[in-house]
Amino acid sequence: MSKVIAVAGKGGVGKTTLSALIVRYLTAKNLTPVLAVDADPNSNLGETLGNPVTKTVGDIRENFMKDPQGIPSGMDKVNYIEMMMNQVLIEEKNYDLLVMGRQEGTGCYCMVNNILHRFMEELSKDYKYLVVDNEAGMEHLSRRTSGKVDLLFLVTDYSLRGLRAVKRIHGLLGELKLTVGKMGIVVTRAPETLNQAFLAEVDEMAVPVWGTVPDDENLRTFDMERKSLMELNEASPSVKAIEKIMEKVLSL
Ligand SMILES: Nc1ncnc2c1ncn2[C@@H]1O[C@H](COP(=O)(O)OP(=O)(O)O)[C@@H](O)[C@H]1O
Ligand SMILES: [Mg+2]
Repeated sequence: MSKVIAVAGKGGVGKTTLSALIVRYLTAKNLTPVLAVDADPNSNLGETLGNPVTKTVGDIRENFMKDPQGIPSGMDKVNYIEMMMNQVLIEEKNYDLLVMGRQEGTGCYCMVNNILHRFMEELSKDYKYLVVDNEAGMEHLSRRTSGKVDLLFLVTDYSLRGLRAVKRIHGLLGELKLTVGKMGIVVTRAPETLNQAFLAEVDEMAVPVWGTVPDDENLRTFDMERKSLMELNEASPSVKAIEKIMEKVLSL
């Protein structure tokens, strides 16, 4: 069974960075094959991994809806959509990448969504780990047919406001028909020791803090230069921090 790792939190706190560094960790430790899923329509996990993507699952959905009869003759809908999906799946040396892209518009998408979901479920089985970089609301995860997340990273920056956003997401989990194995908080751009006010607010949530990621100048540089985080020096503070967190989390 593949393990699903999902990353959630409000915009700008470092979800995509964390997702990319988790992919990096898993591949470095040969915990492969890994499927990186960019499930945030406004996101850039591909770019962060050095892979600017143009084609998305959303494009397949829209194209199919625009012209349902445009299937090559001799092909049925399922085969056609599966063929298109295989074209969207990007295969890198150490991991694969799937970009979900935009959400569906209005109209009846049930049929195409069902085919896509089934394909995704089958595809997932080929991987040891799925790393899903989410939009803040987690809508995408809740629509997956199985709705299972093994490890949920709730990401916040080192502010009470960020933490309250995590609290809101945590509160929504019940409504999302999502089965979560284990979840923990990761605080980005934070010192290793968190202050009392922050910890008191965490306590109310009864969710453990899995770790902190320090402010890492290298991340800013890599972002500006559009460089892949796969190429970050392994001595970088953020890489070290993710290593520590992952070792802890994978042994839970
Ligand atoms: N620990 C960190 N130290 C320094 N910069 C960071 C850190 N984490 C993220 N960033 C930077 O903050 C910005 C937003 O991060 P990103 O991962 O895209 O957030 P999100 O996916 O939550 O919107 C990016 O420019 C990223 O390089
Ligand atoms: Mg993001």
